[in-house]
Amino acid sequence: MSFTVAIDGPAAAGKGTLSKEVARHFGFAHLDTGLLYRATGLRTLDGTDPVEAAQALQAADLEDADALRTPEVAQAASRVAAVPEVRSALVNFQRAFATRAGGAVLDGRDIGTVICPGAQVKLYVTASDDVRAERRHKELTGKGMDVTYDAVLDDLQQRDARDSARATAPLKPAEDAVLLDTSRMSIQEAVAAAIALIEAAQG
Ligand code: C5P
Repeated sequence: MSFTVAIDGPAAAGKGTLSKEVARHFGFAHLDTGLLYRATGLRTLDGTDPVEAAQALQAADLEDADALRTPEVAQAASRVAAVPEVRSALVNFQRAFATRAGGAVLDGRDIGTVICPGAQVKLYVTASDDVRAERRHKELTGKGMDVTYDAVLDDLQQRDARDSARATAPLKPAEDAVLLDTSRMSIQEAVAAAIALIEAAQG
C-alpha cells in the first residue's frame, strides 16, 4: 500500500529538513524534487538544451549535493522549471517514487497540486522572507560558500516570484493543503506538527 506525503512551499522554508525528519520517523522514502530541477539547471549552464537535459537525467546526477546547492544553480533550476516540457519529462519519475510501497515524502512546489493530487497528507510550509534568508544564509556560509545575506534574500525572492508566476504548475498551496508557517517555530515543533497530521491521516 502506498502512502504519500506532499510537502510544498517557497524556497528555503524548511521543507527539506522537515521532509527528511518526517520520512525518518515513519520509515518512508524521501525525494527532494528540487534536486531534479537543479540537476537539469546545472546541465544547462554549459549550453545544453533544458528539455534534453531533463530527458537525459540519471539518478547519479542528483548525488553531487554541493554542486547542486549553489545560488547560481538554484536560479538555473527556477528558469528551466518554467519550461512545460521540462516539467513533463520529470513527472513519471516523481509519481513512481510517490506510489512505491512503504510510503513516500516528496517535497517541492507542485507535489500537492500536480504531481500527487491524491496524496494522503498535503502540507504547505512557509516562513517570512527574513527568516528564510537567514536560515539559508547560515546553511550556505556553514558549507564555506562566500555569499551575503542580501544576495541570498534576492535569490529567494526572485525564484519565488518566477515560480509563482509561471503558467505551468505554479507555486501555490493545494486547496486541501494544511498551511504551516515555521517563522516562529523550531524545527522540532514543525516536525511534531507534521507527524501529528500524518498520524491523524493514517487513522
Ligand atoms: O526546492 P529547491 O529550492 O531546491 O528548488 C529549486 C527550484 O526548482 C525552485 O526554485 C523551483 O523553480 C524548482 N522546483 C519546481 N518544482 C518542484 C521543485 C522545485 O519548480 N517540485
